Amino acid sequence: MPEIDVNLEPCSEGVAVVIFGVTGDLARRKLMPALYENAKIGRLPEPFYILGFARRPWSHEKMRDVLHQGVVDYGRTKPIDEKVLDGLLDNAYYVESTFQDQEGYKKLQESINQLGIQNTLFYLSTPPGWYSTIVENIGATEMEACANGWRRIVVEKPFGRDLETALSLDAKLHSVFSEEQIYRMDHYLGKETVQNIHAFRFGNGIFEPLWNRKYIDHIQITMAESDGVGTRAGYYDKAGVIRDVFQNHLLQLLTLTAMEAPAAFNAKSVRDEKVKVLKSINDISGEKALENTFRAQYVSGTIDGKRVPSYRDEPDVAAESTTETYMAARLFVNNWRWAGVPFYLRSGKRMPKRVTEISIQFTQVPLALFGQRNLAGEAPNVLIIRIQPDEGITLYLGAKAPGNQMRIEPVRMHFSYAEAFGGEPPEAYERLLLDCLLGDATLFTRSDEVEEAWRLTNGIIEAWASQDLENLPVYEAGTQGPHGADDFIRDDGRKWREN
Ligand code: BG6
Repeated sequence: MPEIDVNLEPCSEGVAVVIFGVTGDLARRKLMPALYENAKIGRLPEPFYILGFARRPWSHEKMRDVLHQGVVDYGRTKPIDEKVLDGLLDNAYYVESTFQDQEGYKKLQESINQLGIQNTLFYLSTPPGWYSTIVENIGATEMEACANGWRRIVVEKPFGRDLETALSLDAKLHSVFSEEQIYRMDHYLGKETVQNIHAFRFGNGIFEPLWNRKYIDHIQITMAESDGVGTRAGYYDKAGVIRDVFQNHLLQLLTLTAMEAPAAFNAKSVRDEKVKVLKSINDISGEKALENTFRAQYVSGTIDGKRVPSYRDEPDVAAESTTETYMAARLFVNNWRWAGVPFYLRSGKRMPKRVTEISIQFTQVPLALFGQRNLAGEAPNVLIIRIQPDEGITLYLGAKAPGNQMRIEPVRMHFSYAEAFGGEPPEAYERLLLDCLLGDATLFTRSDEVEEAWRLTNGIIEAWASQDLENLPVYEAGTQGPHGADDFIRDDGRKWREN
């Protein structure tokens, strides 16, 4: 490792983020821009160090240049404040080592000592295959503990690829770190609009009385993406939508929508309530999993006027791949609040538009006073929580259309983040990184939560594995999804909301 070229005055409260895999995309695109945004508004502790750890033969300067460019390319607020950015990068150092080599970890520890760093956040920004090795080596070099400060570790999803591997990763993490030191990152939880679900539900009195099986007909959670697999097919082809977003982002949105009010807004109480929701979801495995899910893969089509290839023709996708790029599921939360209310979840790549939203569809009025179609269509009252883009909340109502007939038309009441608060909301990583530094795990997933989510997901994965997939349903890229998914919900007498 090159010498650390700094003034080695010890300081008592230094904080460092150690980025394992700093040469990868995540560090450049997300972590560094998020650190920069926090530095810009004076939220980072002082002094603050970035220690990059990776195999490539980079110098400190090279790493600083790459991270600098990351902020220029992906920073949220422009123009870039070079003074702040340089200040941050002046304290950035590179440790060159493979993840297996304990000598590298010793060098890292030496740097931490030399810089007088008391508090360290380890960030696993590597392919998941390295997680165990890195954790083992942190343990072997006794870097997980520190007499006068804290040590924490951030683990990016995926946490395993099924229940068994998730449990074994967890056991590995717990063999070195305590649960309080582990921050499992699901970046959806850091999105402003996702956090706003808490504010909306528990900061307002008027919706709570309606938030149950008596007044809600069903709930749809949609995460549609217009992008395909891009350059990530190596990972995606082995994961599919179910591991990529269902097990984590979609189930997280469900828990936040369905959970009871926590005793307090802190990590323990919030996560206790979320775990209860996951435990209440009906067991779907075997035949039940097949009846309550639907999957498909995209074939070529047109998005925004551009022709895009079939999934099987994307680089690094197996020619006969049966990996799903779309899935829909019907789940029930079997508790007093939600018994009998279906939660329809769906997500797909290569849909016409990128939209993530939760739509709460309220029940019809008990009596049709204004003729057959007494209200505006089949779903007069729908509350849409728009996670992205055009972040906001919309409530649809039926209103009398002007004229001498009693004709009801749908109208909307709308709250837009941009209009109300101006500008773009902060990026999820900005909030989440700060929370790790502050030691607040409320927006991170706990070990039992991840386990319950995998238990549920595993049932579906196993049922799917038993299916003969000669005729995997397909959908044309740029369309609203496979026809089978429409039948799936139509059989319940309902339909997907068009985004
Ligand atoms: C990631 C998935 O977790 O979330 C990607 O691996 C997906 O496949 C991404 O595209 C979506 O995140 P966002 O923040 O763009 O909605």
